[in-house]
Amino acid sequence: MKRMIREDTIDLDHLVLLCSRSLRLYDRRLIDHGERVTMIASNILDVWERRDSVDRQTMLLLCLFHDIGAYKTEEIDRMLEFESNRVHEHSTYGYLFLKYFSPLESVSEALLYHHMSAKVSREMNFPLRDYSNLIHLADRMDVAVATGMGKEELIALLEENSEEQFDMTQVRSLTGLLRETALYEDIRDNHFHECVLAQLHRCRITADEAMAYLKMLVFTVDFHSPDTVGHSVTTTITSLYLAEQNHLPDVQMDRIFFAALVHDIGKIAIPTEILENPGKLSFEQMEIMKGHVSYTEELLTGLVSTDVLQIASRHHEKLDGSGYPHGVPGDALSTCERIVGVADIFSALTGKRSYKDRFDREKTIGILREMARDGKIDRTLVEQISAGYDELMRRITEAVQPMMETYRSLHADFEYVMAHLPDEQ
Ligand SMILES: [Fe+2]
Ligand SMILES: [Fe+2]
Ligand SMILES: [Fe+2]
Ligand SMILES: [Fe+2]
Repeated sequence: MKRMIREDTIDLDHLVLLCSRSLRLYDRRLIDHGERVTMIASNILDVWERRDSVDRQTMLLLCLFHDIGAYKTEEIDRMLEFESNRVHEHSTYGYLFLKYFSPLESVSEALLYHHMSAKVSREMNFPLRDYSNLIHLADRMDVAVATGMGKEELIALLEENSEEQFDMTQVRSLTGLLRETALYEDIRDNHFHECVLAQLHRCRITADEAMAYLKMLVFTVDFHSPDTVGHSVTTTITSLYLAEQNHLPDVQMDRIFFAALVHDIGKIAIPTEILENPGKLSFEQMEIMKGHVSYTEELLTGLVSTDVLQIASRHHEKLDGSGYPHGVPGDALSTCERIVGVADIFSALTGKRSYKDRFDREKTIGILREMARDGKIDRTLVEQISAGYDELMRRITEAVQPMMETYRSLHADFEYVMAHLPDEQ
Protein backbone atom coordinates (compact mmCIF):
# COMPACT_ATOMS: atom_id res chain seq x y z
CA MET A 1 0.00 0.00 0.00
CA LYS A 2 2.62 2.49 -1.00
CA ARG A 3 0.34 5.46 -1.57
CA MET A 4 0.89 9.00 -0.46
CA ILE A 5 -1.64 11.58 0.54
CA ARG A 6 -2.40 13.99 -2.27
CA GLU A 7 -2.63 17.61 -1.26
CA ASP A 8 -5.92 17.94 -3.15
CA THR A 9 -7.36 15.22 -0.88
CA ILE A 10 -6.46 16.91 2.38
CA ASP A 11 -4.17 19.76 3.23
CA LEU A 12 -1.29 18.00 4.99
CA ASP A 13 -1.48 20.36 7.92
CA HIS A 14 -5.15 19.55 8.33
CA LEU A 15 -4.26 16.06 9.46
CA VAL A 16 -3.16 17.39 12.82
CA LEU A 17 -6.51 19.14 13.14
CA LEU A 18 -8.29 15.94 12.14
CA CYS A 19 -6.45 14.03 14.87
CA SER A 20 -7.35 16.61 17.47
CA ARG A 21 -10.99 16.79 16.30
CA SER A 22 -11.24 13.01 16.57
CA LEU A 23 -9.95 12.97 20.11
CA ARG A 24 -12.40 15.71 21.03
CA LEU A 25 -15.17 13.40 19.92
CA TYR A 26 -13.81 10.61 22.10
CA ASP A 27 -13.78 12.70 25.21
CA ARG A 28 -14.00 16.45 25.07
CA ARG A 29 -12.11 16.81 28.32
CA LEU A 30 -9.11 15.05 26.87
CA ILE A 31 -8.44 17.41 24.00
CA ASP A 32 -9.60 20.58 25.72
CA HIS A 33 -7.05 19.77 28.38
CA GLY A 34 -4.48 19.08 25.63
CA GLU A 35 -5.25 22.42 24.01
CA ARG A 36 -4.98 24.34 27.28
CA VAL A 37 -1.65 22.67 28.02
CA THR A 38 -0.52 23.64 24.51
CA MET A 39 -1.58 27.23 25.11
CA ILE A 40 0.23 27.46 28.46
CA ALA A 41 3.38 25.86 27.03
CA SER A 42 3.39 28.13 23.99
CA ASN A 43 3.16 31.20 26.24
CA ILE A 44 6.03 29.92 28.36
CA LEU A 45 8.07 29.23 25.21
CA ASP A 46 7.66 32.88 24.16
CA VAL A 47 9.56 34.06 27.22
CA TRP A 48 11.60 31.12 28.52
CA GLU A 49 15.33 31.91 28.47
CA ARG A 50 16.26 28.41 27.24
CA ARG A 51 13.52 28.10 24.62
CA ASP A 52 16.10 27.28 21.95
CA SER A 53 16.73 23.93 23.65
CA VAL A 54 13.44 22.60 22.26
CA ASP A 55 11.79 22.61 18.86
CA ARG A 56 8.67 24.75 19.22
CA GLN A 57 6.39 22.86 16.83
CA THR A 58 7.42 19.51 18.31
CA MET A 59 6.79 20.83 21.80
CA LEU A 60 3.30 22.08 20.93
CA LEU A 61 2.31 18.83 19.22
CA LEU A 62 3.56 16.84 22.19
CA CYS A 63 1.45 19.03 24.48
CA LEU A 64 -1.62 18.61 22.31
CA PHE A 65 -1.37 14.82 22.31
CA HIS A 66 0.27 14.37 25.71
CA ASP A 67 -2.66 12.43 27.18
CA ILE A 68 -3.52 10.44 24.06
CA GLY A 69 -2.76 7.25 26.01
CA ALA A 70 -5.84 7.87 28.14
CA TYR A 71 -7.86 6.90 25.11
CA LYS A 72 -6.76 3.38 25.80
CA THR A 73 -6.75 3.30 29.55
CA GLU A 74 -9.68 5.45 30.59
CA GLU A 75 -7.64 7.16 33.28
CA ILE A 76 -9.10 10.50 32.36
CA ASP A 77 -10.88 11.08 35.64
CA ARG A 78 -7.83 10.28 37.71
CA MET A 79 -5.24 12.23 35.78
CA LEU A 80 -7.27 15.40 35.90
CA GLU A 81 -6.87 15.49 39.65
CA PHE A 82 -4.06 17.59 40.98
CA GLU A 83 -2.49 14.93 43.14
CA SER A 84 -2.72 11.82 41.08
CA ASN A 85 -0.38 8.95 41.64
CA ARG A 86 -1.86 6.37 39.37
CA VAL A 87 -0.98 7.83 36.04
CA HIS A 88 1.43 5.21 34.76
CA GLU A 89 -0.87 3.55 32.31
CA HIS A 90 -1.82 6.52 30.21
CA SER A 91 1.76 7.85 30.20
CA THR A 92 3.02 4.50 29.00
CA TYR A 93 0.36 4.07 26.33
CA GLY A 94 0.77 7.65 25.16
CA TYR A 95 4.50 7.11 24.81
CA LEU A 96 4.09 3.84 22.92
CA PHE A 97 1.38 5.29 20.72
CA LEU A 98 3.59 8.13 19.58
CA LYS A 99 6.59 5.82 19.31
CA TYR A 100 4.84 3.35 17.03
CA PHE A 101 2.44 5.52 15.11
CA SER A 102 3.54 9.10 14.81
CA PRO A 103 6.28 11.24 13.37
CA LEU A 104 7.11 12.22 16.95
CA GLU A 105 8.84 8.91 17.63
CA SER A 106 12.19 10.50 18.47
CA VAL A 107 10.66 12.56 21.30
CA SER A 108 7.96 10.11 22.34
CA GLU A 109 9.75 9.22 25.58
CA ALA A 110 8.94 12.70 26.84
CA LEU A 111 5.35 11.48 27.25
CA LEU A 112 6.43 8.51 29.33
CA TYR A 113 7.77 10.91 31.93
CA HIS A 114 5.34 13.78 31.64
CA HIS A 115 4.18 13.27 35.23
CA MET A 116 7.68 12.84 36.62
CA SER A 117 9.19 15.51 38.85
CA ALA A 118 12.04 17.63 37.52
CA LYS A 119 14.23 16.30 40.33
CA VAL A 120 13.92 12.70 39.18
CA SER A 121 14.37 13.58 35.52
CA ARG A 122 17.54 15.47 36.48
CA GLU A 123 18.84 12.56 38.52
CA MET A 124 18.09 10.20 35.65
CA ASN A 125 19.78 12.62 33.29
CA PHE A 126 16.78 12.15 31.04
CA PRO A 127 17.77 13.71 27.70
CA LEU A 128 14.28 14.97 26.85
CA ARG A 129 13.63 16.55 30.22
CA ASP A 130 13.15 20.05 28.80
CA TYR A 131 10.14 18.63 26.96
CA SER A 132 8.77 16.46 29.76
CA ASN A 133 9.28 19.16 32.40
CA LEU A 134 7.41 21.75 30.38
CA ILE A 135 4.49 19.41 29.73
CA HIS A 136 4.45 18.56 33.43
CA LEU A 137 4.40 22.21 34.48
CA ALA A 138 1.74 23.27 31.96
CA ASP A 139 -0.33 20.21 32.81
CA ARG A 140 -0.26 20.90 36.54
CA MET A 141 -1.19 24.53 36.03
CA ASP A 142 -4.20 23.53 33.95
CA VAL A 143 -5.37 20.99 36.49
CA ALA A 144 -4.96 23.54 39.30
CA VAL A 145 -7.01 26.15 37.44
CA ALA A 146 -9.66 23.59 36.53
CA THR A 147 -10.04 22.60 40.17
CA GLY A 148 -10.66 26.24 41.14
CA MET A 149 -7.27 27.31 42.50
CA GLY A 150 -6.87 31.11 42.59
CA LYS A 151 -4.03 32.90 40.81
CA GLU A 152 -2.10 33.96 43.92
CA GLU A 153 -2.41 30.50 45.43
CA LEU A 154 -1.14 28.97 42.18
CA ILE A 155 1.87 31.29 42.05
CA ALA A 156 2.70 30.46 45.66
CA LEU A 157 2.31 26.75 45.05
CA LEU A 158 4.55 26.83 41.97
CA GLU A 159 7.25 28.79 43.76
CA GLU A 160 7.18 26.53 46.80
CA ASN A 161 7.34 23.31 44.81
CA SER A 162 9.59 24.44 42.04
CA GLU A 163 12.86 22.88 43.20
CA GLU A 164 11.49 19.39 43.52
CA GLN A 165 8.67 19.27 41.07
CA PHE A 166 9.48 21.62 38.24
CA ASP A 167 12.25 23.17 36.21
CA MET A 168 13.01 26.45 38.04
CA THR A 169 13.64 28.46 34.90
CA GLN A 170 10.34 27.34 33.42
CA VAL A 171 8.53 28.16 36.66
CA ARG A 172 10.04 31.66 36.68
CA SER A 173 8.78 32.22 33.14
CA LEU A 174 5.33 31.00 34.07
CA THR A 175 4.96 32.99 37.29
CA GLY A 176 6.10 36.09 35.38
CA LEU A 177 3.36 35.48 32.82
CA LEU A 178 0.77 34.84 35.51
CA ARG A 179 1.61 38.18 37.14
CA GLU A 180 1.94 40.26 33.99
CA THR A 181 -0.47 38.80 31.43
CA ALA A 182 -4.01 37.43 31.25
CA LEU A 183 -2.81 33.82 30.85
CA TYR A 184 -4.47 32.67 34.07
CA GLU A 185 -7.78 34.30 33.13
CA ASP A 186 -7.64 32.98 29.54
CA ILE A 187 -7.21 29.43 30.79
CA ARG A 188 -9.82 29.83 33.50
CA ASP A 189 -12.35 31.41 31.14
CA ASN A 190 -11.71 28.97 28.30
CA HIS A 191 -10.21 31.48 25.87
CA PHE A 192 -7.79 29.11 24.28
CA HIS A 193 -9.36 27.25 21.38
CA GLU A 194 -8.88 29.91 18.67
CA CYS A 195 -5.34 30.61 19.80
CA VAL A 196 -4.38 26.93 19.67
CA LEU A 197 -6.06 26.44 16.30
CA ALA A 198 -4.05 29.36 14.94
CA GLN A 199 -0.86 27.75 16.25
CA LEU A 200 -1.77 24.40 14.72
CA HIS A 201 -2.52 26.06 11.40
CA ARG A 202 1.03 27.34 11.42
CA CYS A 203 2.43 23.80 11.81
CA ARG A 204 4.23 22.63 8.72
CA ILE A 205 4.39 18.92 8.19
CA THR A 206 5.86 16.83 5.41
CA ALA A 207 4.03 14.21 3.34
CA ASP A 208 5.68 11.42 5.36
CA GLU A 209 4.64 12.98 8.64
CA ALA A 210 1.10 13.43 7.33
CA MET A 211 1.01 9.74 6.50
CA ALA A 212 2.15 8.89 10.01
CA TYR A 213 -0.59 11.05 11.53
CA LEU A 214 -3.13 9.36 9.31
CA LYS A 215 -1.97 5.98 10.57
CA MET A 216 -2.09 7.19 14.14
CA LEU A 217 -5.69 8.15 13.62
CA VAL A 218 -6.67 4.86 12.02
CA PHE A 219 -4.91 2.81 14.67
CA THR A 220 -6.56 4.82 17.42
CA VAL A 221 -9.83 3.39 16.16
CA ASP A 222 -8.77 -0.10 15.06
CA PHE A 223 -6.52 -0.96 18.00
CA HIS A 224 -9.51 -1.15 20.27
CA SER A 225 -9.38 -4.93 19.97
CA PRO A 226 -7.11 -7.47 18.27
CA ASP A 227 -10.06 -8.45 16.05
CA THR A 228 -10.36 -5.06 14.41
CA VAL A 229 -6.65 -4.25 14.08
CA GLY A 230 -6.75 -4.87 10.34
CA HIS A 231 -10.25 -3.67 9.47
CA SER A 232 -9.51 -0.27 7.93
CA VAL A 233 -6.44 -1.55 6.13
CA THR A 234 -8.31 -4.59 4.78
CA THR A 235 -11.07 -2.29 3.56
CA THR A 236 -8.47 -0.07 1.92
CA ILE A 237 -6.63 -2.91 0.17
CA THR A 238 -9.89 -4.41 -1.08
CA SER A 239 -11.04 -0.99 -2.31
CA LEU A 240 -7.78 -0.41 -4.16
CA TYR A 241 -7.98 -3.88 -5.68
CA LEU A 242 -11.49 -3.15 -6.99
CA ALA A 243 -10.43 0.29 -8.23
CA GLU A 244 -7.60 -1.40 -10.11
CA GLN A 245 -9.99 -3.98 -11.62
CA ASN A 246 -12.19 -1.15 -12.84
CA HIS A 247 -9.27 0.83 -14.28
CA LEU A 248 -10.00 3.90 -12.20
CA PRO A 249 -7.58 6.78 -12.75
CA ASP A 250 -4.85 7.46 -10.24
CA VAL A 251 -6.53 10.50 -8.78
CA GLN A 252 -9.57 8.40 -7.84
CA MET A 253 -7.35 5.67 -6.43
CA ASP A 254 -5.84 8.25 -4.10
CA ARG A 255 -9.26 9.44 -2.97
CA ILE A 256 -10.37 5.88 -2.34
CA PHE A 257 -7.17 5.19 -0.42
CA PHE A 258 -7.73 8.07 1.97
CA ALA A 259 -11.48 7.61 2.32
CA ALA A 260 -11.24 3.86 2.95
CA LEU A 261 -8.57 4.35 5.62
CA VAL A 262 -10.66 6.84 7.56
CA HIS A 263 -14.15 5.50 6.80
CA ASP A 264 -14.73 4.34 10.37
CA ILE A 265 -12.99 7.10 12.34
CA GLY A 266 -16.42 8.12 13.64
CA LYS A 267 -16.27 4.96 15.77
CA ILE A 268 -14.05 6.94 18.10
CA ALA A 269 -17.28 8.45 19.44
CA ILE A 270 -19.01 5.10 20.01
CA PRO A 271 -18.75 3.54 23.50
CA THR A 272 -16.49 0.49 23.74
CA GLU A 273 -19.24 -1.67 25.23
CA ILE A 274 -21.20 -1.23 22.01
CA LEU A 275 -18.19 -1.66 19.71
CA GLU A 276 -17.16 -4.83 21.53
CA ASN A 277 -20.58 -6.22 22.34
CA PRO A 278 -20.32 -10.01 22.06
CA GLY A 279 -24.02 -10.57 21.36
CA LYS A 280 -26.64 -9.11 19.10
CA LEU A 281 -27.05 -5.38 19.59
CA SER A 282 -30.43 -4.15 20.80
CA PHE A 283 -32.35 -1.73 18.57
CA GLU A 284 -31.14 1.25 20.64
CA GLN A 285 -27.54 0.04 20.64
CA MET A 286 -27.70 -0.49 16.89
CA GLU A 287 -28.90 3.07 16.40
CA ILE A 288 -25.95 4.35 18.42
CA MET A 289 -23.59 2.14 16.42
CA LYS A 290 -25.00 3.44 13.13
CA GLY A 291 -24.21 6.95 14.33
CA HIS A 292 -20.50 6.34 13.60
CA VAL A 293 -21.02 7.31 9.94
CA SER A 294 -22.43 10.71 10.86
CA TYR A 295 -19.45 11.23 13.15
CA THR A 296 -17.09 10.30 10.31
CA GLU A 297 -18.88 12.88 8.19
CA GLU A 298 -18.70 15.50 10.92
CA LEU A 299 -14.99 14.89 11.49
CA LEU A 300 -14.01 15.14 7.85
CA THR A 301 -16.21 18.09 6.90
CA GLY A 302 -14.18 21.11 5.92
CA LEU A 303 -10.90 19.21 6.08
CA VAL A 304 -11.10 16.94 3.01
CA SER A 305 -12.46 17.31 -0.52
CA THR A 306 -16.19 16.66 -1.05
CA ASP A 307 -15.42 13.49 -3.01
CA VAL A 308 -13.43 11.98 -0.17
CA LEU A 309 -16.03 13.06 2.36
CA GLN A 310 -18.78 11.32 0.43
CA ILE A 311 -16.84 8.13 -0.25
CA ALA A 312 -16.08 7.80 3.47
CA SER A 313 -19.46 8.76 4.82
CA ARG A 314 -21.53 6.69 2.37
CA HIS A 315 -19.93 3.32 3.08
CA HIS A 316 -23.14 1.94 4.62
CA GLU A 317 -25.45 3.18 1.87
CA LYS A 318 -27.04 0.49 -0.33
CA LEU A 319 -28.05 0.45 -4.00
CA ASP A 320 -31.73 -0.05 -3.13
CA GLY A 321 -31.73 2.99 -0.86
CA SER A 322 -32.03 0.87 2.30
CA GLY A 323 -28.67 1.93 3.73
CA TYR A 324 -27.78 4.60 6.25
CA PRO A 325 -27.44 7.37 7.29
CA HIS A 326 -29.25 9.04 4.38
CA GLY A 327 -30.77 6.16 2.36
CA VAL A 328 -29.02 7.48 -0.77
CA PRO A 329 -30.39 5.64 -3.86
CA GLY A 330 -28.09 3.54 -6.03
CA ASP A 331 -28.05 5.83 -9.05
CA ALA A 332 -26.59 8.56 -6.85
CA LEU A 333 -23.77 6.33 -5.58
CA SER A 334 -20.52 6.76 -7.51
CA THR A 335 -18.27 3.84 -8.44
CA CYS A 336 -15.81 4.89 -5.72
CA GLU A 337 -18.59 4.95 -3.12
CA ARG A 338 -19.89 1.52 -4.19
CA ILE A 339 -16.38 0.11 -4.08
CA VAL A 340 -15.65 1.20 -0.51
CA GLY A 341 -19.09 -0.02 0.59
CA VAL A 342 -18.49 -3.52 -0.78
CA ALA A 343 -14.91 -3.59 0.50
CA ASP A 344 -16.12 -2.72 4.01
CA ILE A 345 -18.57 -5.63 3.99
CA PHE A 346 -15.88 -7.96 2.64
CA SER A 347 -13.51 -6.90 5.42
CA ALA A 348 -16.17 -7.51 8.08
CA LEU A 349 -17.06 -10.95 6.67
CA THR A 350 -13.49 -12.20 6.37
CA GLY A 351 -12.49 -10.81 9.77
CA LYS A 352 -13.20 -12.09 13.26
CA ARG A 353 -15.59 -10.04 15.37
CA SER A 354 -16.65 -10.13 19.00
CA TYR A 355 -19.94 -11.71 17.83
CA LYS A 356 -18.67 -14.00 15.04
CA ASP A 357 -15.74 -15.97 13.67
CA ARG A 358 -14.07 -15.17 10.37
CA PHE A 359 -15.97 -16.59 7.40
CA ASP A 360 -14.26 -18.72 4.75
CA ARG A 361 -14.29 -18.06 1.04
CA GLU A 362 -17.46 -19.96 0.30
CA LYS A 363 -19.52 -18.33 3.01
CA THR A 364 -18.15 -14.83 2.30
CA ILE A 365 -18.83 -14.97 -1.43
CA GLY A 366 -22.21 -16.61 -0.76
CA ILE A 367 -23.31 -13.71 1.46
CA LEU A 368 -21.99 -11.08 -0.97
CA ARG A 369 -23.81 -12.73 -3.90
CA GLU A 370 -27.02 -12.85 -1.92
CA MET A 371 -26.71 -9.14 -1.14
CA ALA A 372 -26.10 -8.44 -4.84
CA ARG A 373 -29.18 -10.53 -5.77
CA ASP A 374 -31.24 -8.53 -3.28
CA GLY A 375 -30.17 -5.36 -5.08
CA LYS A 376 -28.09 -4.03 -2.18
CA ILE A 377 -24.57 -4.06 -3.59
CA ASP A 378 -22.94 -4.01 -7.01
CA ARG A 379 -22.93 -7.46 -8.67
CA THR A 380 -19.88 -6.74 -10.86
CA LEU A 381 -17.79 -5.80 -7.84
CA VAL A 382 -18.81 -8.99 -6.04
CA GLU A 383 -17.79 -11.10 -9.03
CA GLN A 384 -14.46 -9.27 -9.23
CA ILE A 385 -13.82 -10.12 -5.58
CA SER A 386 -14.77 -13.73 -6.22
CA ALA A 387 -12.48 -14.00 -9.25
CA GLY A 388 -9.48 -12.46 -7.50
CA TYR A 389 -10.14 -13.85 -4.02
CA ASP A 390 -6.77 -15.60 -3.54
CA GLU A 391 -4.69 -12.68 -4.77
CA LEU A 392 -6.74 -10.28 -2.67
CA MET A 393 -6.32 -12.36 0.48
CA ARG A 394 -2.59 -12.58 -0.19
CA ARG A 395 -2.33 -8.79 -0.34
CA ILE A 396 -4.43 -8.43 2.80
CA THR A 397 -2.35 -10.92 4.78
CA GLU A 398 0.84 -9.24 3.64
CA ALA A 399 -0.36 -5.88 5.00
CA VAL A 400 -2.19 -7.01 8.12
CA GLN A 401 0.42 -9.43 9.48
CA PRO A 402 2.96 -6.71 10.34
CA MET A 403 0.14 -4.76 11.98
CA MET A 404 -0.71 -7.71 14.18
CA GLU A 405 2.96 -7.93 15.10
CA THR A 406 2.95 -4.22 15.94
CA TYR A 407 -0.14 -4.74 18.06
CA ARG A 408 1.52 -7.57 19.95
CA SER A 409 4.82 -5.81 20.40
CA LEU A 410 3.06 -2.67 21.60
CA HIS A 411 1.35 -4.71 24.29
CA ALA A 412 4.55 -6.54 25.21
CA ASP A 413 6.37 -3.19 25.43
CA PHE A 414 3.58 -1.92 27.62
CA GLU A 415 4.07 -4.71 30.14
CA TYR A 416 7.83 -4.23 30.06
CA VAL A 417 7.75 -0.47 30.52
CA MET A 418 5.19 -0.69 33.33
CA ALA A 419 7.42 -3.15 35.18
CA HIS A 420 10.54 -0.99 34.81
CA LEU A 421 9.36 2.53 35.55
CA PRO A 422 11.40 4.47 38.10
CA ASP A 423 9.91 4.33 41.60
CA GLU A 424 8.35 7.76 41.69
CA GLN A 425 6.41 7.27 38.46
FE1 LIG B 1 -1.07 12.98 31.79
FE1 LIG C 1 -2.48 15.94 31.18
FE1 LIG D 1 -18.73 1.55 9.22
FE1 LIG E 1 -15.97 -0.36 8.42
